[in-house]
Amino acid sequence: MLAHGGTRLLEIGTAHGLSALHMLCGIADWETGSIETIELDADVAAATQQRMDELGVPVRVHQGDAARVIADVLGGTFDTVFLDAQKSHYLQQLEALLARGLIGSGTLVLGDNVIDRSEECAPFLAWFVDNHVPHRVVPTECGLLVARL
Ligand SMILES: C[S@@+](CC[C@H](N)C(=O)[O-])C[C@H]1O[C@@H](n2cnc3c(N)ncnc32)[C@H](O)[C@@H]1O
Repeated sequence: MLAHGGTRLLEIGTAHGLSALHMLCGIADWETGSIETIELDADVAAATQQRMDELGVPVRVHQGDAARVIADVLGGTFDTVFLDAQKSHYLQQLEALLARGLIGSGTLVLGDNVIDRSEECAPFLAWFVDNHVPHRVVPTECGLLVARL
């Protein structure tokens, strides 16, 4: 199903933009919908932003550490967040997004590598259990957490 209206999607961990482009396919209206994505590596962030601009797609790459970008740069609210940078920082990032009101009730949360990096992701997974948030782990090769806040 395609997401309609002003869908705003946040990704943490851009790399070369492959997953951002995949997720863009789920946004029906590129006039009002968009993806914001955070990448620590300055060269990678610049190259990916250039590629997105050349493609003419609504993807904005924020260069910097996710903690700083969440604290100082992002605004509004996001419908979906995809966590795919440092696995041991997933919980910290989720809590920072919640504390700033950037995500909240109804937000779709996706987290990659919860099976193949299960030790690092354990505190993140436990948060959903402890807070009784409905969630599933999709058994991809890496394991994808899907939850609705
Ligand atoms: C697994 S790759 C992302 C892959 C991408 N989501 C995809 O599937 O196409 C993780 C990326 O997160 C970036 N990264 C690592 N730590 C970060 C941080 N603290 N803040 C932002 N980005 C970070 C890395 O530089 C790397 O490019």
